[in-house]
Amino acid sequence: MTSPHDKHLSRLPVTRWPSADEAARSRWLSPLSVGRLTLADRTWIPAMVPWRASDDGFVTPAVLAWYRRFAVGRPAAIVVEATGIRDVPSGPLLRIGHDRFVPGLRELAEVVREASGGRTKLFIQLIDFLAIKRRPERARFLERFLVIDEALRARLSAHLGDDSFMRMEESSLRAALVASSDEVLANVLSPRDHESLTMGHRERVTDTHLAHVRTLPTVLPSLFAEAAARAEAAGLDGVELHYAHAYTMASFLSRTNTRDDGYGATLEGRLRLPREVLAAVRARVSERFVVGARILGDEVIAGGTHLEEAIAIGRTLAEDGLDYLSISKGGRFEDAAQPKVGHAAYPYTGPSGHECMPTVKIGPLAHEGAHLDARVPSRNTSAFGRNVSLAREIRRAIREAGLSTPVVTAGGIATYEEAEDVVAHEEADLVGAARQAIADPDWLEKVRRGEGHAVRRCYFTNYCEALDQHHKEVTCQQWDREALADVPVPLRSKDGKRRLIAP
Ligand SMILES: Cc1cc2nc3c(=O)[nH]c(=O)nc-3n(C[C@H](O)[C@H](O)[C@H](O)COP(=O)(O)O)c2cc1C
Ligand code: SF4
Repeated sequence: MTSPHDKHLSRLPVTRWPSADEAARSRWLSPLSVGRLTLADRTWIPAMVPWRASDDGFVTPAVLAWYRRFAVGRPAAIVVEATGIRDVPSGPLLRIGHDRFVPGLRELAEVVREASGGRTKLFIQLIDFLAIKRRPERARFLERFLVIDEALRARLSAHLGDDSFMRMEESSLRAALVASSDEVLANVLSPRDHESLTMGHRERVTDTHLAHVRTLPTVLPSLFAEAAARAEAAGLDGVELHYAHAYTMASFLSRTNTRDDGYGATLEGRLRLPREVLAAVRARVSERFVVGARILGDEVIAGGTHLEEAIAIGRTLAEDGLDYLSISKGGRFEDAAQPKVGHAAYPYTGPSGHECMPTVKIGPLAHEGAHLDARVPSRNTSAFGRNVSLAREIRRAIREAGLSTPVVTAGGIATYEEAEDVVAHEEADLVGAARQAIADPDWLEKVRRGEGHAVRRCYFTNYCEALDQHHKEVTCQQWDREALADVPVPLRSKDGKRRLIAP
């Protein structure tokens, strides 16, 4: 009889685990310099938000326990989850926008140092993001929030062949809109208003009519720099500038950034703010402090940035002195699934999001600008190693420019064989494994000890990601109900039904 466990495992690559001797001789488990630091090997846990910070952004005992658990498995580096650089309420997102956050982060750095015996270096991902509203209730939006202007009246008149809408009282016009079909609304609302109605209002970096968006280039360099200085004061080893996924800096880099103020439109313009932020951060921290960045090797949206431009972006940032470059993929809002009324869109729900955290159900690579991997064709059709070719091409360009900036890849790499193959073929210098580290935080130690057969392998079915999507504490289906009775209440989920830390 087959168990559900067997069913999941059968969808994963068949693999061979090394003996302790072989592991000790491997390229993946050999040291590497990143900036002025030496990492013990090329293992890496990329940033993951587990929703354990307090509602006002502080490190909690559950945050400490989450990172302590990873550190026990002694990865060479952990990147702490996306952490907000502004001093504004952001729900239970970790924050670093004020000195009051430093003591908690210092405790976090100490916990990781102690649990890993000083082996694991700790970086923190610095994020800025623009406002996104929940999808509104239809009538409420049309009655209260929609701005009625001449252009809307004209579109409505033309579409319905009735010019009385040009003069109609605003309240009557709103009532007519409420009574209209969805099809009429799709035709008469501006694309932006229609998006606000059906997805929830979302600010863009191109909204330069808004003062706080127009002035982003003036405020962000110092916000990032001060956050980095706090990370250094807290005893962390470095920062990762979040220039990827759905957030402000990735949107500046995006081909969709048409700002005409010198910070968009051309590749040079799109790169300008990320370069200025990097320069400000570098100037604010000591030379030994690592400053890396995560960028997209492909946005995976129509009209977005694809590999060719990502190569130019990566090379430019490397030339500017970045200490490492982590390559991710997709995770944009543009193609996100429609949220339910009262919920906000989530950038990992559409095709670009699926490329960011691929599951065993993902189909062949087929999006606009997709880069097919000629060396390992199975990567083009499965979740495993699907993003490696992006890192490889960006790394190649960086090496051709005479630079040795280490490049991190991540995405469905969860076996010794795959990780060793990536490093041995010089496709990337460091191999990130996010979900595999959740499933089994001890997996790297097991590999080092020659006990790979005991690794609790990630199923790549994204139960964890679904929790993340609903801002619920992230746990793994393979362990969150195991030995629950032994777990103290602060280390259980809010509903008490799941353990927050791997057994
Ligand atoms: C629960 C969860 C939270 C994540 N949060 C972040 C984040 O804060 N910043 C980020 O750059 N990537 C984030 N990611 C993406 C991961 O860093 C990684 O790129 C992705 O999961 C693919 O790697 P994997 O196949 O090894 O899991 C998150 C992934 C998961 C599963
Ligand atoms: S819950 Fe997440 S970490 Fe656990 S097996 Fe599923 S995909 Fe992997």
